[in-house]
Amino acid sequence: MKNYAGPAEIMYHTGLSAGMIRGAKYALVPGDPGRVEGLAKSLDENALFVASHRDYTTWLAQVENAPVLVMSTGMGGPCVTFAVEELARLGVETFIRVGTTGSIQDDLNLGDVVINTASVRMDGASRAYAPIEFPAVADMDTVLALRDAAAEAGVPFKMGISISTDSFWPGQERYDSFGGYVLKRLQGSLEDFRHIGCTNYEMENATLFTLCSVLDLKAASICGVVAKRTDSESVAPHDIYEKAEQRFREVVKRALKKMIARSRSGGNIS
Ligand code: URA
Repeated sequence: MKNYAGPAEIMYHTGLSAGMIRGAKYALVPGDPGRVEGLAKSLDENALFVASHRDYTTWLAQVENAPVLVMSTGMGGPCVTFAVEELARLGVETFIRVGTTGSIQDDLNLGDVVINTASVRMDGASRAYAPIEFPAVADMDTVLALRDAAAEAGVPFKMGISISTDSFWPGQERYDSFGGYVLKRLQGSLEDFRHIGCTNYEMENATLFTLCSVLDLKAASICGVVAKRTDSESVAPHDIYEKAEQRFREVVKRALKKMIARSRSGGNIS
């Protein structure tokens, strides 16, 4: 049985109620609260601020007259679990993560876009929901909407499997941390993941995909490449992020329009 919230119930961590999100079924979930307003206004110039609690800043946009929530998740798997649990109780069904990533393949350049189909579960939070053998896979219809939107928009993108870690430094085999040390079991892990075809490191997909599969929700992810790990450990300057951001905003808006049109036509994929 699904534990939906009552009409006036306020969610403890996000500060949201069903009335505040006005029946939104779709949520864009960037990590950074600072990116929420711009993302919401790129969908709808009249988007409205809804609430801001802890890591969770929320705006509401209208796309094709359908309410679309834009809410930050904060960084990492544990923060994602609060976002998914509370938005699901309010009736959100589809989550699209919009974030940044570090590529580990030579053909994925700074400013490119990655649409992940699945993720390696190097996170911890998803283990509370499913055994580690359970795959962290995105929802295929949502992935295909993003793929078709990216192709139509002429945005350079690649699809692939991310590695979701709980640590930006040793977990992603970075040596430029304060301590500079990576545990032996993680030394060489970037090269192993590159060799088996994974495309990128990030920190939220595995938790998002696993929870959504287990809870019968839909999830997908689109990220801009801000570090090219085959060249360097560094994160690129802000203008690279802005280039990627322009691209994924366009892709996400087109994909939402497709998904909304599809659901109105009874779910047929055109
Ligand atoms: N986000 C990550 O998790 N890793 C990167 O290298 C860049 C962004």
